[in-house]
Amino acid sequence: MSRRSLLVGSGKYLPARVVTNDELSSRVDTSDEWIRTRTGICQRHVADNGETCVSMAVEAARNALADAGLDASAIDLVIVGTSTPDQAFPSVAVRVLGELGTTGGYGFDVSAACSGFIYALSVADGLIRAGSARGALVIGSEVYSRILDWEDRTTSVLFGDGAGAVVLRASEPGEAERGILATHLHADGSVGDILYVDGAVGLREHSGYLRMNGREVFRHAVSKLASSVDEVLESVGLGYQDVSWLVPHQANIRIIEGVAKKLQMSMEQVVVTVDRHANTSAASIPLALDEARRDGRIRSGDLVLMEALGGGLTWGSALVRM
Ligand code: COA
Repeated sequence: MSRRSLLVGSGKYLPARVVTNDELSSRVDTSDEWIRTRTGICQRHVADNGETCVSMAVEAARNALADAGLDASAIDLVIVGTSTPDQAFPSVAVRVLGELGTTGGYGFDVSAACSGFIYALSVADGLIRAGSARGALVIGSEVYSRILDWEDRTTSVLFGDGAGAVVLRASEPGEAERGILATHLHADGSVGDILYVDGAVGLREHSGYLRMNGREVFRHAVSKLASSVDEVLESVGLGYQDVSWLVPHQANIRIIEGVAKKLQMSMEQVVVTVDRHANTSAASIPLALDEARRDGRIRSGDLVLMEALGGGLTWGSALVRM
């Protein structure tokens, strides 16, 4: 049987500082009740000045390697999904390689906004299947607090900072029943103006803010994610009843509930972190996955469905046998 990418570890990093809805209500005209009922968000983690996209990615990577029981020398590929890198270059991925002391590998960042982790996972899987990598770190790391207009109540209440990571390794003969079964990616540049940043991000100063037409993004998310989950299941001949866990991108509990309903899944089978993390963009899926692996919900053999939609628009899904 052909080579597959096995998911053998996960890790995370969340800034210590927690900002509650009530704290935000003292800065902009909003309320805990409005934010909770429209989004399911109760709080978010926010990076302090010493926490960067790279530093959070490195911590998540170390945490994931420890979980996998692997040394950094087992990694020859790092891909970071991020739309908030600290610098134009070097990439976050290459800086992670440097911090881990890995000199034999290669790495790069993937910019696909909130779909960044699904995109990065898909690319890493392709490289592993092709024999171009044996061990990969796939990381989502984001500091959206640095691209938020904190005066804008329609966007500032929705996002948080953090990083999540997974370790992939090429299967050995006989192991190929597990691993990444399928990934599907999509993009539609014609609706890029409903969710975008009007500049770039940097360590020193703001040069761009996130802008969004929330209602339009919501409408696209519900329809595109519904077809995306069908597509990935159909591609491997599996049905809704085969899915053990949905690990969705964490943007809004109402979007998550919509996808769960479409999949005829109980919310007991859905991993939800949006209440505590808010939307951490490319970091949200690996953060949620790590939580559910560590607390024992997701176990070996489970079929995990992941999906995300983000600015671009970009969207996609991944199906993994743990
Ligand atoms: N606090 C209080 N009121 C707010 C508010 C806030 N934080 N943000 C917006 N409002 C107001 C609006 O100004 C509007 O007031 P008006 O009727 O007087 O004009 C009212 O609430 C309704 O706004 P609307 O945008 O229609 O609300 P909504 O029900 O669509 O919910 C979102 C807004 C953003 C929560 C929702 O559209 C959403 O979740 N969209 C998807 C966003 C997303 O997930 N983006 C990331 C994708 S990766």
